[in-house]
Amino acid sequence: MKASLLSVALALARGAVAWKHVSDCDDIKYSSVPGFFLQDDPSTDPGSFDYAAFNFGLINRTYPTDARFDPHHRKTQWQRFAHYVESLNSECRKEDKSTYKVLFMGRHGEGWHNTAESFYGTPAWNCYWAEQDGNGTSTWADPELTPNGIQQTTKANAYFKSRFEQEGLPFFESYYSSPLKRCLQTAQFTFANQKLPRSHPFKPVIKELFRESISIHTCDRRSTKSQIHAYAPNFEFEAGFTEEDLLWRGKEDEGETPAHQVARSKEAIDDVFSHDDNTWISITSHSGEIGAILTVLNHRSFSLSTGQIIPVLVKAELVEPTVEPTSTYASFTTEPTCKSPPITSISGQGCVCATGTTTFTTATITPKPKPHRDL
Ligand SMILES: *[C@@H]1O[C@H](CO)[C@@H](O)[C@H](O)[C@H]1NC(C)=O
Ligand SMILES: *[C@@H]1O[C@H](CO)[C@@H](O)[C@H](O)[C@H]1NC(C)=O
Repeated sequence: MKASLLSVALALARGAVAWKHVSDCDDIKYSSVPGFFLQDDPSTDPGSFDYAAFNFGLINRTYPTDARFDPHHRKTQWQRFAHYVESLNSECRKEDKSTYKVLFMGRHGEGWHNTAESFYGTPAWNCYWAEQDGNGTSTWADPELTPNGIQQTTKANAYFKSRFEQEGLPFFESYYSSPLKRCLQTAQFTFANQKLPRSHPFKPVIKELFRESISIHTCDRRSTKSQIHAYAPNFEFEAGFTEEDLLWRGKEDEGETPAHQVARSKEAIDDVFSHDDNTWISITSHSGEIGAILTVLNHRSFSLSTGQIIPVLVKAELVEPTVEPTSTYASFTTEPTCKSPPITSISGQGCVCATGTTTFTTATITPKPKPHRDL
């Protein structure tokens, strides 16, 4: 991985149709194109928004291509939008260095770690319980979905079915998933039993860097490649996916920083935009990771509750790279933790450990600078 992932991605980009005449030194700049989905409108409240109440947020409007494509007003909103996006790509492929994709990003349904965090309260969860594999009755290391989480995937399955069959929502051309079980289950239950045409099969690819923020919590440690394959045999792995989880540093009490997460999410998105010529793409991931991807895409912050889904029309342009920053930022830093259940779980107080069991207090954390893109 490291910088080579990006260089390989860009090298391949140079050969692809959409990215001709690119010098060795280009970078990809992303923007989410406003005016198509309610989610990028500042007046839409992410806390109460439900994709299933608003056609995934697709705004009812006209497009410059409607007159020729739909002179008798017989097409659906999704069909007209899809045609418009197709026209953006065909024009752009001829004239400039931009390409457009529609990314549907879904957060997994509720997992056992989500219920455990509510049960213990966030401070006690972060300081102690999340570092355990479970508590004897409940397991939350690489957790599966709760019955409520499975119900959320049933809802998504039915809603996609209605959009595909009644509203002309284009079928996805590519599917990606985080390697964590809650996402494998969510993607599987949402899409595996849809009536999909032979030209658009559900063939999901597991991408390491679409995983959740790599904290010291055991819910952020993935299973081995063999275990994942046994668990989800119809999922493929991206090239280079390692047997062991080489990124999780929970044993050393170290978690990745937000800056590191955004940088590695950009690598993952760069990889998709450079290798995948498809336009309609589904990504099943996590709240923190989708948040980081939205940052990469220059979309406003839009936090998703479990099982929620956000589509984004993304414009990608090849640009001269800004000079590589010479300064480094901490990529992983020590996270506070306690060796036994904390005395209290009061929000805002950090980890209040029983005497002598504190491994670190918030005040003594010293970030260890690591080079940019040290994944
Ligand atoms: C668009 O109009 C349809 C039909 O009137 C409605 O059901 C849907 O919720 C509207 N979509 C948005 C995003 O307002
Ligand atoms: C373990 O955690 C779950 C919540 O995830 C809770 O319902 C259960 O009571 C806990 N078990 C014990 C033994 O505390």
